[in-house]
Amino acid sequence: MKTTKIYEPLKENISSVASELKKGEIAAIPTETVYGLAANALDENAVAKIFKAKGRPADNPLISHISELQMLDLIAKNVPQSAYKLANAFWPGPLTLVLKRGSFVCDAVCAGLDTVAVRMPSHEIARQIISEAKVPLAAPSANKSGKPSPTTAQEVLSDMQGEFEYIIDGGKCEFGVESTVLSLADENEKPLLLRPGSVTKQQIEKVLGCEIEVSNAVTNVLENDSKAHSPGMKYKHYSPKAKMFLIKASSEKYIEYVNDNHKKNSDITALCFDGEEKHLNCEAITYGQSDNVEEQAFKLFSSLRKLDEIGAKIAFAHCPSEDGVGLAVYNRILRAAAFRVVEL
Ligand code: TXA
Ligand code: MG
Repeated sequence: MKTTKIYEPLKENISSVASELKKGEIAAIPTETVYGLAANALDENAVAKIFKAKGRPADNPLISHISELQMLDLIAKNVPQSAYKLANAFWPGPLTLVLKRGSFVCDAVCAGLDTVAVRMPSHEIARQIISEAKVPLAAPSANKSGKPSPTTAQEVLSDMQGEFEYIIDGGKCEFGVESTVLSLADENEKPLLLRPGSVTKQQIEKVLGCEIEVSNAVTNVLENDSKAHSPGMKYKHYSPKAKMFLIKASSEKYIEYVNDNHKKNSDITALCFDGEEKHLNCEAITYGQSDNVEEQAFKLFSSLRKLDEIGAKIAFAHCPSEDGVGLAVYNRILRAAAFRVVEL
């Protein structure tokens, strides 16, 4: 078993990680969205180590991270003009594009699909590591499969101790939810939003000058027999240990509902907006102001982990708005609640 340690982002540590990655090892690196568990995207054995460390199903493909546009040719082919338009507007940054797969990226990254997901992160340390490694890095979120994504080096460590050596500390992630995933792989169809993130549907439409489609799986349970455009949508995700319920209600009704239920069942805890905790009779974790979806995105995953830390058994979460970045928060919290929704 390896000893996993957090390293300061010093020049020599960045160089050590880049050379380990080049040699076929895996390491956790910061990005502006969440921490990623990285491996050389062109090395089949290295990528296999990611799936093993995370306990990730082999049919769930990974995102490849590049530090400059020239690296795109190693990853993708027949890249449409719309991709360059979006790259120009949002890269480096939290937008992932699904494109036709190029010939150098290894099979495990694409999980057998003829498409590949790629993004250029804006986090300076991530970019330095990719540049020094001189290869695209496949990197899913650096958590055990099914758990909330880590937004601090400490959260990576608490999930992944013993799996690999390096975690490079880049501080708390700027956005806190994973990148927006948009498919441009089918030239006969409208662009398809597979996973909402900090780059919003409206921002993408403005750049492309056309409407985009939102995958059904963003806000709905996928039936067993329906085709998953993005395999990641099929899986249990972001789950705290508590059984969570998502409560769609005004602040007043939410508070009344939680307090009423807590009288009958003292196991109930709350995941609420700032200020609501003062009116609740149960233990409560907050995840930002009710009208600040960016703040909610920034805090959500850490708040889900705090529910575990306080030993919450049942959690009533106050539902966020679905507007703009709110759709990304809603998509994650809905899965954390295993689609159990109470509408008041
Ligand atoms: O912000 C992020 O995207 C973070 C950081 C580390 O960059 N990474 C991340 O990776 O969230 P992961 O593996 O947790 O999520 C990747 C998502 C999954 O839902 C997966 O199914 C989807 O991207 N995906 C990857 N390749 C795909 C493909 N070829 N077609 C459709 N979906 C794909
Ligand atoms: Mg993930």
